[in-house]
Amino acid sequence: MKTQATQISKSVSFIGAFDPQIRTFDIIMKTANGSSYNSYVVRGSEGVAIMDTVKKEFSKDFFARLEQKCTYDEIRYIVLHHLEPDHSGALVELMQRAPQAKLIISNRAVMMLKGLLKAEEIPFEMATTGKTISLGDKTIEFLSTPFLHWPDTMSSYLHEEKILFSGDVFGSHYYDERLFDDAVGDFSYAFQYYYEHIMRPFKQYVLEALKLYEKFEIDLIAPLHGPILRTDPQYYLDKYAAWSSEAKFRKNLFGKKMLSVFYMSSYENTQAMAKSITEGADSVDGIVASMYDLSSLDEQNMIDLLEESDAVLVGSPTINGDAVKPAWDLLSCMAYLENKAKVGGAFGSYGWTGEAPQMLHDRMRWLKFRLPVEPLKIKLIPTQEELDECFAFGVEVAEIAMGKMQEIEL
Ligand code: FEO
Repeated sequence: MKTQATQISKSVSFIGAFDPQIRTFDIIMKTANGSSYNSYVVRGSEGVAIMDTVKKEFSKDFFARLEQKCTYDEIRYIVLHHLEPDHSGALVELMQRAPQAKLIISNRAVMMLKGLLKAEEIPFEMATTGKTISLGDKTIEFLSTPFLHWPDTMSSYLHEEKILFSGDVFGSHYYDERLFDDAVGDFSYAFQYYYEHIMRPFKQYVLEALKLYEKFEIDLIAPLHGPILRTDPQYYLDKYAAWSSEAKFRKNLFGKKMLSVFYMSSYENTQAMAKSITEGADSVDGIVASMYDLSSLDEQNMIDLLEESDAVLVGSPTINGDAVKPAWDLLSCMAYLENKAKVGGAFGSYGWTGEAPQMLHDRMRWLKFRLPVEPLKIKLIPTQEELDECFAFGVEVAEIAMGKMQEIEL
């Protein structure tokens, strides 16, 4: 693999590192095409700024590229847009090699700096929206873009060349040494996958960041992973705007609320409960209730349905004192979503002890669901009276989702 720095504009070069072999990133993401840890050097008439570093294991490539573009004593600033180790891994060594350089981080990164780097006495300056640094004939302006993807994240803009250094925003886990969006292979799936797994839980923050970006004319976007976006930056801005604004399902067009009943069933008893609960919920004006057998949903279905649901009810039998795995898998999908206080509830049929509904209820509390009703459990085959109880359970949750006043347990 060549370790060549690449000029990406008159005064900016790519000095990051390629990781073609990585197949899982941050535990939750598959990276079929590997990835890159992008960092850049900006050269001005009065010194240079290094924009981010790389994962520690790739430090050698990073320093090799950096040394092609500047000497260590020319470095006036080291800008860390995001402290996650894939970008801060070479920071301590870089600061040792360039002790005169000022480290610039966001105000929210301060608390993380010491914990992540395990280094004492790290000098730094804080950047907030509007703060600038000068390299003589080059000016870099900072923009606070928190939670994209950690609370510390910021972006910056190089005025003279209209370059947005966007941090993780607009990134893709997609290794391709041809670097630019018009030269690499088709990375559209990786661009969207990255959005869905990294940015989707923080849609409101994406929209706030896009508002900040709007005030700049952008000729090129330099993200922290994957292709550099130079052909039509607005296309990528528009994609993020659409994904952060649009509802996927048509129910929103009719102004109705969506209540989803997810269940697993061994002997059709929890399924019978789910059916009555769904019928009860659906009888409430303004609610569209649907039931889903968890055994037939894949993860992406679960994420999409959870995102669009105003209320979520989860049913599981109790097996060996626990809820079944697909029910836990469903709730684990909340990691990809922002939970704007969805209404929740749990239920299930059981044979001996029946812990599952209470366990799911407790987990949902930690996930910040509003839980207006106690978990509902029924021993073995539900009687008609018990099915009526399920119907009433569905009605109660649906009415609360529609705004019925109630003391709600948070
Ligand atoms: Fe690429 Fe959130 O680090």
